[in-house]
Amino acid sequence: MAKQKSAWFCQECGVESAKWLGKCPSCGSWNTFVEELVGGGSTSSSAHRPKATGGSVAPRLLSEIDTGSEVRRTMHDGELNRVLGGGLVSGSVVLLGGEPGIGKSTLLLQLALRTSGLKTLYISGEESEQQIRMRAVRTGTGDGECHILTETLTGNILHHAEKIKPELIIVDSIQTLQSELIASVVGSVGQIRQCASELQHFAKTHHIPVVLIGHITKDGNIAGPKVLEHMVDVVLLFEGDRNYGFRLLRALKNRFGSTGELGIYEMKSDGLAEVSNPSAMLLSHREEDYSGTAVAATLEGARPLLIEVQSLVSSAVYGTPQRSGTGFDLRRLNMLLAVLEKRSGFRLGAKDVFLNITGGIRLDDPATDLAVVSAIISSNADIPLEKGCCFAAEVGLTGEVRPVTRIDERINEAARLGFHRIYISKYNNKGLRKNPAIETVPLASVGELAEHLLG
Ligand code: TYD
Ligand code: MG
Repeated sequence: MAKQKSAWFCQECGVESAKWLGKCPSCGSWNTFVEELVGGGSTSSSAHRPKATGGSVAPRLLSEIDTGSEVRRTMHDGELNRVLGGGLVSGSVVLLGGEPGIGKSTLLLQLALRTSGLKTLYISGEESEQQIRMRAVRTGTGDGECHILTETLTGNILHHAEKIKPELIIVDSIQTLQSELIASVVGSVGQIRQCASELQHFAKTHHIPVVLIGHITKDGNIAGPKVLEHMVDVVLLFEGDRNYGFRLLRALKNRFGSTGELGIYEMKSDGLAEVSNPSAMLLSHREEDYSGTAVAATLEGARPLLIEVQSLVSSAVYGTPQRSGTGFDLRRLNMLLAVLEKRSGFRLGAKDVFLNITGGIRLDDPATDLAVVSAIISSNADIPLEKGCCFAAEVGLTGEVRPVTRIDERINEAARLGFHRIYISKYNNKGLRKNPAIETVPLASVGELAEHLLG
């Protein structure tokens, strides 16, 4: 029998070393090396390589390959279909990451139960059959055919999968699986990589989509080796603020579609509900006027979304003023404050500035800038902005108001929700198809914006 050898692997990036190292030379993380057993015989040595026979596949001319083989299955979940780019592709492997308790298991169980006629094999290494049944009762069962298997050995799982012949396999979670083919501990880099590659091989040879649930580490990355993300076809991230009901589903990688789409759900007492009209839910419908709030007409993927931005500017109590932003990049907030100070003469250097995007949503769209600046101007002067106004433009370092993409869609969504005025960049104004229901105000600079808002 071949002698068992061991090697040290970085748990962050999967790099291999012959001895323990304090700092990973590849990804730079500290104290992440763990010893794992590796199978006998080195795979990298060419001396022991068996004689090549040419294999079962031969090179083919690209133009001769048939493209019609990509089969998509539409699921009973409009938001997931949107994020995937139109349904699950057969033979694809999808990795779904997210914090504990965010609702990954609920999302996939619902999918399995509600997609009519879908035969699913749901593998759980985390919960018992009874727990899953209780969750299913809570979320309401549908007419999908869902088989539950509480097993963690990949050999047994694939054996059952061969017998049941499911149309979808869900693995909850990849970190709990174990392969008999290698000897390292459950949850280690080697095990995760091995189990994922066995499942991937099964998916590709049987043309069945496989969805893997993955844990994430404290800094928001999917736990396990980075190679896991490279191996799979689609990486989805399920996120949201625990204190709010909203959950967002994003694609970080998608071999079959765009990564710009966003799925929005709301966690209710009977499971996750799709939010198909998010703008209307994200705006607070208050009667009183407060200073410091402004509405941004943003885009998330293909969808326009109107979101409220709140800001509070007050005199700093301590020497160093505080700046904090929830749902908005702090460096960008500091940049906008510097622009306001330098280009329009607002004295904000000695003020605390707090910024909050409602609904626990994180905004990356540069078109949010103008609403952020307006909310800060309004709070600083303690003058509420006129009701029914919204904003869509980027702010540049010179204080200029810059154009943003797909302005027509933003304007139409604002008009649809009853807004009567939208502030945009004057560069967006050219060639704009006017919507009679809403007035557009073109702006050149932040100074001009302040004149409009403060009168
Ligand atoms: P879960 O799917 O177990 O999360 P994950 O698999 O990502 O760890 O979701 C657990 C949370 O969701 C739990 O805190 C309770 C909440 N929840 C509801 O609010 N409503 C429901 O119908 C269900 C099933 C869960
Ligand atoms: Mg779970």
